[in-house]
Amino acid sequence: MFKTIHALLCALLAGAAGLISTPAAAAPGVAATPPMGWNSWNHFAEKIDDATVRAQADAMVASGMRDAGYVYVNIDDTWEGTRDASGAIHPNAKFPDMKALADYVHAKGLKLGIYSSPGPKTCAGYEGSYGHEDQDARTYAAWGIDYLKYDLCSLGERLDRATPLQARQIMRDAYAKMAGALKATGRPIVYSFCQYGYDSVWRWGPSVGANAWRTTGDISDNYARMAEIGFGQAGLAKYAGPGHWNDPDMLEVGNGGMKPEEYRTHMALWALLAAPLLAGNDLTTMSAETRALLTNRDLIAIDQDPAGHQGERVSAEGTLEVWAKAMADGSRVVALFNRHDVYNEIHVDFRALGYKKPVKAVDVLTHEDLGRLPLDARLLIQGHDVILLRVTP
Ligand code: GAL
Repeated sequence: MFKTIHALLCALLAGAAGLISTPAAAAPGVAATPPMGWNSWNHFAEKIDDATVRAQADAMVASGMRDAGYVYVNIDDTWEGTRDASGAIHPNAKFPDMKALADYVHAKGLKLGIYSSPGPKTCAGYEGSYGHEDQDARTYAAWGIDYLKYDLCSLGERLDRATPLQARQIMRDAYAKMAGALKATGRPIVYSFCQYGYDSVWRWGPSVGANAWRTTGDISDNYARMAEIGFGQAGLAKYAGPGHWNDPDMLEVGNGGMKPEEYRTHMALWALLAAPLLAGNDLTTMSAETRALLTNRDLIAIDQDPAGHQGERVSAEGTLEVWAKAMADGSRVVALFNRHDVYNEIHVDFRALGYKKPVKAVDVLTHEDLGRLPLDARLLIQGHDVILLRVTP
């Protein structure tokens, strides 16, 4: 995006001089821990309608997911219809009555999320919010919407034609505008940015109202892409905390493209990263194994730890990586990952984490008490798998 060093320097100086507007901060108390729920896109894409959303909400309760902490039922792109003479947005024929759908979801103790774009068109070519931000926010609040995913889409075309400095201003103004519009409704609505990490959004997203921001392009249901995104979060931990989270995209757990140990890695990594946990599978048909992984209380407790620290990489040796996350109770979660597809021996140097004596460790996924591990521990790990340790001195 920055075509010359000069342009980059101008942009940085403009930011430092406060020329870039940063008006609306996130609503207090919203997303105190990473949002948990379900989103329609990964499994259903454009084949989503009112009946399907209701069925997913039913399954969220029946499967125990709601009681495990999954609350948001999020409709992604393709719900949008046309605007009436007053400019108000209406859903298309797939969603006959959005307010009635919100009432249905709320009656189950769940919340409803929706999707739009700061551009004139969404990524799937439906109506975006450009020029109608205040009106759309009011409509969402009147329907009873609790979560908005705001996806850059067609606004990106304007950025491509702009200088870096202009592009930066356009992007931030667009996201800030909707933040102000949501805030003005008085309804607590989780505001989730989706602009694929452009312009290091983690640095400025919170100051323009983001509760979460996508850090990358889209995930897909295979180990290579999931790992590229998940392990690519290294270095971003310091930007996350209560009310504002890095979002490495929605879960693919249960969609069928990965092996059990790969989905285990996916879920463990997202929990370690304090990422939003938005299931992306069909909850009405999921296997017992998928349900057990999604509702694993120990993994969810890692993700939802009230201290809100994001885990960070401690060491990497080829395809073997050690990550750690500090927990509110003073313990640590230490995750050992084997990115190779065959078994390997992974070394963990607990001294690098500040420990001076052998540590007490419990395997979070198997519940096995491993007793004391030496400061320089060696563990065998199968290909594409994870070993998750809860460690105390
Ligand atoms: C993409 C976004 C996806 C999904 C899709 C809908 O830009 O990253 O998560 O929302 O648009 O069209």
